[in-house]
Amino acid sequence: AQLRARSPKASTFMTTATEILQQRLPAARPRIGMILGSGWSSVIDAIENPQRVAYADLPGFPQSSVAGHVSDVVVGRLGRHEVAVMGGRKHTYETGRADAMKIPIRALREWGCDVLVQTNAAGSVDANIPPGSLMAISDHINFSQHSPLIGEMGNERFVSMTNAYDIGLRQQAHEHAGSMGVDLFEGVYAWFVGPQFETPAEIRMAMGAGANAVGMSTVPETILARHAGMQVLAFSLITNMGAGLSSETLSHAHTLSQAQASAKRATSFLARVVGQLAI
Ligand code: HPA
Repeated sequence: AQLRARSPKASTFMTTATEILQQRLPAARPRIGMILGSGWSSVIDAIENPQRVAYADLPGFPQSSVAGHVSDVVVGRLGRHEVAVMGGRKHTYETGRADAMKIPIRALREWGCDVLVQTNAAGSVDANIPPGSLMAISDHINFSQHSPLIGEMGNERFVSMTNAYDIGLRQQAHEHAGSMGVDLFEGVYAWFVGPQFETPAEIRMAMGAGANAVGMSTVPETILARHAGMQVLAFSLITNMGAGLSSETLSHAHTLSQAQASAKRATSFLARVVGQLAI
């Protein structure tokens, strides 16, 4: 009875996860869902009265095998909003499947979330966007050409990806960045499936194609969220220059240590933007 804006593609499978969330947290009415990527997990510390449900208790919620990701849904208050935060995501490179986050995103939607806020760590392919920067994603390039919607039926599968990263939400993010004195860049995120980093030639291709950053996540979730009828806002924390653009050796340890160095700034910015979001 409490379901608003039920996804048209509700299946009994994902309803199970939604029902468990409702049973465990009967008073919760989150309208914003969040997915935290590498370096962003301390956003959870900003949540008031957090309540946790382990992914292990939610059918179809996949545990991430990636260090720095947390396998819990954390629900509580962030500023003006009640939010449901997924501490980690399953990446396509973990299984070869781009639809690993299908059930979690549809469950958030069924539970009442109208907005999906995503974060990730990314490499810059833009000399004007140095490591340590925050970037609002304005658009993406799906270089992997995987889709989480393969096998969907019906005309809704032909989902428009124009304005996939909502311009009104992005505008609000820029206003908060301005008032907080945070430099917020904006750019196009190119998805490479990974888990290997890109080659220098691939980075040159991404630059030529108009990308500003490269990474291994976020795009499948954006496609799923748009398909489910959610608005999307997404931020990259730039941890390095793309392969061949600097003398650094790329590794996950490097990504995490660079992300940690910027985590405080990134997470206080995110808490403010999401906490104040007009939706
Ligand atoms: N490439 C892909 N993914 C990444 C990178 C990168 O350079 N840095 C952090 N995530």
